[in-house]
Amino acid sequence: MSESKSVMANPRTTRPGFVPTPAFYDHVARGYDLIASSYDDVEGRNEISETVRRFSIEAALKVFRPGNRILELGCGTGRDAVALAQRGVLVDATDVSPAMIAATRARVLRENLSDLVSVRCQSAATAASEGGPYDGAFSNGAVLNLEPDLESVARGLYRSMAPGSVAVLTAANRLSLFELLFYPIVLKPRKAFRKLGHEVPIPVSREGEGKSYVVPTRFLTPREFVGAFRPGFERAHQRGIQVITPPWNLVDLARLIHPAILGLERIENRVGTAPGLRSLGSIYLVSLIRK
Ligand SMILES: C[S@@+](CC[C@H](N)C(=O)[O-])C[C@H]1O[C@@H](n2cnc3c(N)ncnc32)[C@H](O)[C@@H]1O
Repeated sequence: MSESKSVMANPRTTRPGFVPTPAFYDHVARGYDLIASSYDDVEGRNEISETVRRFSIEAALKVFRPGNRILELGCGTGRDAVALAQRGVLVDATDVSPAMIAATRARVLRENLSDLVSVRCQSAATAASEGGPYDGAFSNGAVLNLEPDLESVARGLYRSMAPGSVAVLTAANRLSLFELLFYPIVLKPRKAFRKLGHEVPIPVSREGEGKSYVVPTRFLTPREFVGAFRPGFERAHQRGIQVITPPWNLVDLARLIHPAILGLERIENRVGTAPGLRSLGSIYLVSLIRK
């Protein structure tokens, strides 16, 4: 094989575009396969991601009841599937990465929850279109920013979810108030706007092997995200997260100024659902009702 061909075949250096092709899903799956075994360690130590998880699970448990069957898109290593199943919710956990699915399967077995959680390796677009009927849907960790076929997700969920049931979803925003204020102060103003592009390359992890494996992502404003689910879904609830606190990738900064962050978090928890501010977090949580 020639030098240029071997470079082209390297998934770290060649990226497919943000379009729903087998090559794209394969590229993303390989990236997450790479970090599946270290994911719990790295993410579990990131207290900012853990805050998002707490909000998502709280929102889910407000609407999902014991005995409800829900679809989870992008389950990762199965932490949320297990947390929901421990409260009696039946979860069909899905993810595009075979290694993530294997990790979820192992966790479900370990926790003795095989009666409540089933797992399947599928992209969100495919998973939403197959299976059901569901009493709800759940996705946490900005999985849907990695799904170029949001239309199929919305259409599929509309078909598979019961009328009146709720999809609890988090996604990553194009802009955040914190970044707009912070990056000009540290003399990197352009960084505040780096997520505006149609297709933004991001590493699959902040640490280890995943740091140099990049996947194309599309950041979306809450309006764009909710709009993708219309007309079949209506927004019931929206919260901005990481509005005045640092986003997950600035966790080192957050640790340095921890006492200040605690105060900011308390304020953010109170104002995160206020109109305006709820659209200005790095992450937002939305609950969408299936009409
Ligand atoms: C940041 S992790 C979040 C995992 C988990 N939801 C959590 O909160 O810990 C993103 C996950 O989405 C999965 N993923 C990426 N693109 C996907 C797609 N189009 N469909 C389904 N899963 C996808 C990845 O394999 C990975 O497990």
